[in-house]
Formats: sequence, C-alpha cells, structure tokens
Amino acid sequence: MSKKITKICCIGAGYVGGPTMAVIAQKCPDVKVTVVDINEKRIAAWNDEDLGKLPVYEPGLDKVVEEARGRNLFFSTEVDKAIDEAEMIFISVNTPTKTYGKGKGMAADLKFIELCARQIARVAKDDKIVVEKSTLPVRTAQALKSILHNTGSSPAGKEGGVQFDILSNPEFLAEGTAVEDLHAPDRVLIGGDNPEAIQALVDVYAHWVPAANILTTNVWSSELSKLTANAFLAQRVSSINALSELCEKTGADVNEVARAIGTDSRIGPKFLKASVGFGGSCFQKDILNLVYIAKSYGLHEVADYWEQVILMNDHQKRRFADNIVTTLYNTVSGKKIAFLGWAFKKDTNDTRESAAIHVADYLLNEQAEIVVYDPKVTEEQIYADLDYLNTRDEKENRKLVTVVNDPYKATDEAHAIAVLTEWDEFRAYDWQRIYDLMLKPSFVFDGRAVLDREKLKNFGFEIYIIGVGSCG
Ligand code: UDX
Ligand code: UDX
Ligand code: ADP
Repeated sequence: MSKKITKICCIGAGYVGGPTMAVIAQKCPDVKVTVVDINEKRIAAWNDEDLGKLPVYEPGLDKVVEEARGRNLFFSTEVDKAIDEAEMIFISVNTPTKTYGKGKGMAADLKFIELCARQIARVAKDDKIVVEKSTLPVRTAQALKSILHNTGSSPAGKEGGVQFDILSNPEFLAEGTAVEDLHAPDRVLIGGDNPEAIQALVDVYAHWVPAANILTTNVWSSELSKLTANAFLAQRVSSINALSELCEKTGADVNEVARAIGTDSRIGPKFLKASVGFGGSCFQKDILNLVYIAKSYGLHEVADYWEQVILMNDHQKRRFADNIVTTLYNTVSGKKIAFLGWAFKKDTNDTRESAAIHVADYLLNEQAEIVVYDPKVTEEQIYADLDYLNTRDEKENRKLVTVVNDPYKATDEAHAIAVLTEWDEFRAYDWQRIYDLMLKPSFVFDGRAVLDREKLKNFGFEIYIIGVGSCG
C-alpha cells in the first residue's frame, strides 16, 4: 500500500514550480499544495489579487490559479513550515550553469539544490518523499540522498531517524504552452528505487493523466532522459538552422525543406522551424551539462558531438547580427534598429538565453542604437539581461537601448527592424504605416520567418528572411 499524499510542498516558485503546482492543485482538490520561495517579491506577485500580475506569464495560467488559489493552493515564504507539514516535497529551484571555479561555463551549479536538501534534513521530523523537479545532472539524486541521510537532527538510517525517499520527476513542459502541456502531457516520467514512493507520486498524477502515459524507470534513467530530450530537441533546431544558411546560399527555402522532410514519419514535423537561434533556460544549460558529464567520463567524441549543437546556435545568432551590419552598408553606428520581440519565444515573458540578448550585444558593439518592443517583457528585465553580460557599463546600456510599449514608436525613423521573437501580433500590424514611419530604404530582418514576404515586398520593404535570404 502506498502512502496517500495529502500535503505537498514545492520549494521554488518559478517558471516550473509555479505552473506545475498550480495544475496539480487544480486537478487534485484533495491535496493541499504549498509553493514556497525565499523571494518575497515573487511570492507577493503569486498572491496578487490582480491575476495580470502573476510573476509568470503563461496563457491560461490565470484561470488555473484563480480556481485553486486559497482553496488548496498556497504561496508562501514560510519554507520551514511547509516542509514540516508536507509528506511530499518537490525541489524546483534554479540550477544555472556555474559561473566560477571547476566546471565554469559548463556544469550545473547545484548550490541551491544543496541548500534545499540541508534545509529539509534540518526541518523534517517525519518521513518525506523528496522529488527532484529541477533539471539536474545525472547522479544528483545520489548527492541529495547523501545530504539528507547524513545531516539533520535525526539522521536517516539511525534509530528513530526519518526516512527520505528520493524520486526524479523531470518536467517536460515548454514555456508558452505550460498549462496545455501540464494538462495533457505526452508522458510523465518518474524515476526511483522504492516502489511505494513511486506509487505515491503516480497516484497524484493519476488524478488526470492516463496510466499509460506515466512511465517509471530507475533514477539515473529518469535524470538522463531529461537531458537527452532537451539535447535532441535542441539538436533538431541546430540542424535546421545549419540548413537555413545553406538554403540562403542555394536559393532553396528552408520552410519548404522543413515541410518536405517533416512529412517523413520517421522525422516528424515538429521542431523544424529555422530561427535566429534557440534560447530558454534549458537547452543550452542541459547540453553543456551533458558535455561536461561526457568529458568527466573521458568520452571526448560524445562531448564534441553535442557541443556542436551549441556552437551552431552561437553561429546562427552571430551571423544574423552580422548580416544586419553588412546589409546596412557595413555600418550600424548611430543607426536606429527596432527590435520586435525580446522573449526567447512567443507567449512567455521569460528572456533567459534569448537570442535577442546576444544579437543586441553584437549590434551594440557596432554602436547601433536599439529600440525594443516586446508585448510581455519589462524594461527592467531587458536592461538586467544586457547588464548581466558585462560587455559595457550599465549607463552605456541605458544610453544605447530604449524600451517602448508601442511597436509604431519602436519603428518610427528606424533604419531597420529585426524580428527576434515570433509573437503572433507582429503579423497583424499595419505594415504600410510602419513603412511610412521608417527611414528609406526600409530594411526588415525576420529572424523567425513569420512575416508575409510578398505583402511586405509590395509595400517597398527590403526584406531578409532567415533560411530564405534577401528578397527585397
Ligand atoms: C535510407 C533512408 O531511410 C531512405 O529513406 C533513403 O531512401 C535511403 O537511405 P536505407 O539505407 O535503405 O534507407 O535503410 P535505413 O532503414 O534508413 O537504415 C540505414 C542504416 O541505419 C542501417 O544500417 C540501419 O541499421 C541503421 N539504423 C537505422 C540504426 O542503426 N538505427 C536506427 O534507429 C535506424
Ligand atoms: C524546452 C523543452 O521543449 C521542454 O520539454 C523542457 O521541459 C524545457 O525546455 P522551452 O525552452 O520552454 O522548453 O521551449 P521550446 O519550445 O522547447 O523552445 C526552445 C527554444 O527553441 C526557443 O527559443 C524556440 O524559439 C526555439 N525553437 C523551437 C526554434 O527555434 N525552432 C523550433 O522549431 C522549435
Ligand atoms: P525554473 O525555470 O527552474 O522554475 P526559476 O529561476 O524561474 O527557475 O525559479 C526558481 C525559484 O527558486 C526562484 O524563484 C528562487 O528564488 C527559488 N529558490 C532558489 N533557492 C531557493 C531556496 N533555497 N529556498 C526557496 N526558494 C529558492
């Protein structure tokens, strides 16, 4: 008989923890779900009466939160209390790439995970199931186990000690479609070695996920599957992006090529959209992680193979920016470039690793003036992203980059427009009006292949489309 879970705690109220727990609470009204975070501002935003102010923007999330919040979904900064109460604790804190020391720029920084483990060990007075939700390098469960079992007031294994079961339950939701993905996941993956603990978590998901879609494996397979899934998806994007450059040279259209190969059922149509480069908190980090692990086992060919996916992505961002400079008569110094989009993909306010950041940085090095419009990303976030790169001082970033909340203002008197995110609204703009506002010749660099090429050409734009080339 597996233990019936009545209280869940989730440490980390971010892009993964927030939406995932909101949906668990929505689908399991008999379970009390408390999401805790040390970031008071974030928790206050999750509790805001105004659902438009939730810290994570995801279509449909406001409805889910409205339904469950205050009923069986709670957001709090009282971490110890929530740990103490819960039978099951999800760890969903951030695991950024290390920026210092051993494994710098490659390995995942596990310090936040370790802090959580120590806190759980200190607070827990009864048995807990601890679930890894964050993306973690393979064998993190082992580290967690070791901390949980050897620290705390009544170490596990000792007489009277508490028992910790560790499960790996990677999240596969994609931002922008998080609620949809959580409601109808392709699969839920649970790795563990204690069948009772596994069953307890299966029972939570079984509230709404069909049994056939809940896969169970050992911990290591589960951890490695998460990295592998992201590596394969990113590899598809880099593969089509590599072809996008060849298409531009040969006169093929990458979108036609993608359609032609995507109909092969062995290849499939998804993740074949050429772009200015993939971003997001997972792809780069997870591949770097894979590369680091492979290297640490001396598997250099394996490491080099996957590293190439990142190198291709860096090249794609760079060549997009390069092409803007070349096309604008080899200089963008003092020229106004309007950025449409800053988020790493549409329907999210997340900007982590967004291609826009790197394209902007490159153009700023060429002394361009950039005006950004994104429907969901704040000015504060855009400056924070640029400052984080440390390429120039904060004052300079604010001098060279302006953020506006109106696309027509962004394009007014611009030399060029660069489309960095595939927001739907970009297609619906009054492009005649934009053409009239811009300096001539009016250049558009569509890094997402979303605009109507023929229509724009007819207005008089000089247009470049990723994977198609210039067709002004
Ligand atoms: C391939 C293409 O599939 C086909 O569409 C094209 O027209 C010609 O090239 P073919 O080479 O006949 O066809 O066989 P395929 O089934 O693709 O296998 C190619 C090789 O890959 C074989 O050696 C096969 O054993 C190997 N393979 C295939 C794997 O090792 N693992 C797999 O998952 C699939
Ligand atoms: C990804 C995985 O899809 C998800 O399963 C995992 O849980 C987290 O990482 P996410 O990063 O949120 O999700 O979004 P995703 O849709 O995968 O897009 C990642 C990046 O690739 C975006 O920048 C997107 O624009 C880009 N992309 C995606 C392309 O450029 N072309 C494509 O065809 C698909
Ligand atoms: P993800 O995309 O993985 O959800 P985020 O950065 O959006 O990543 O969210 C992670 C959250 O975890 C942040 O809000 C951060 O404040 C929180 N966090 C990190 N460490 C701890 C900790 N020790 N206790 C509680 N919350 C934490």
